[in-house]
Amino acid sequence: MISPRLGWPLPRVFAHRCGGALAPENTLAGLRIAARLGLRAVEFDVMLSADGTPWLIHDETLERTTNGFGRVCESADTRLRVVDAGVCRHPAFAGELLPTLASAASLCRQLGLRVNVEMKPAAGFEALTGEVVARQVRRLWATGELPLVSSFSETALAAARAAVPELPLGCLHQRPPVDWLVRVRELAAWSLHCAPTSVDDDLLRTASAAGIPLLCYTVNDPLTAAALFQRGVAAVFSDRIDCLGENQPRMIET
Ligand code: G3P
Ligand code: MG
Repeated sequence: MISPRLGWPLPRVFAHRCGGALAPENTLAGLRIAARLGLRAVEFDVMLSADGTPWLIHDETLERTTNGFGRVCESADTRLRVVDAGVCRHPAFAGELLPTLASAASLCRQLGLRVNVEMKPAAGFEALTGEVVARQVRRLWATGELPLVSSFSETALAAARAAVPELPLGCLHQRPPVDWLVRVRELAAWSLHCAPTSVDDDLLRTASAAGIPLLCYTVNDPLTAAALFQRGVAAVFSDRIDCLGENQPRMIET
């Protein structure tokens, strides 16, 4: 299977979890800050509620990042709609609501932000998450450029691929396994995302020869980012979008 093209120039820096460290993670406030700082692309995490709605949240439970409690996959939309996703980070962000994928998509389109949607399926919901998120991404970005959709879950990626064959996919491996290329090809994925500590010459050579962009998370030091770009890493996800200012898009062949 031929890997679908991303169709847009890949910026060097993606704001991690919407606004990096400058806003509560996975919030609309973060998207606004990223856009204000001139970022061209953002990454955020998406998980299904009990009603099967994709919401922006990293953890399977609400406690760390919101004033709610319990499991996201067991929470109805009516509950998620009223939790405060800002107050845990800083009082200045109190009242910041948990965004749905639909509301984040609308704001990203308005702000001209390119998007990497990272699917974070709760255990047992991998295939459903892949299918629902892929279909919703296709609908929300019906016109214009499709986001890059990534996941650590190959089950979610395979379901997304089956639901929307043209979706650009990214395989996430903190440390890519020895057969990572086979896995990327099986999913017809577009990119490989890994930790910067996993980048070695062999990985760079193999990815480059296969035409697979390598993206690294999470890179917060400008010197580390510069060294990674120098070695051939295509882009980084960063929490320090205030100091990783290299926001010029870099055209890469897709
Ligand atoms: O998608 C890159 C990165 O966000 C993966 O790690 O745990 O921050 O979602 P995490
Ligand atoms: Mg993420």
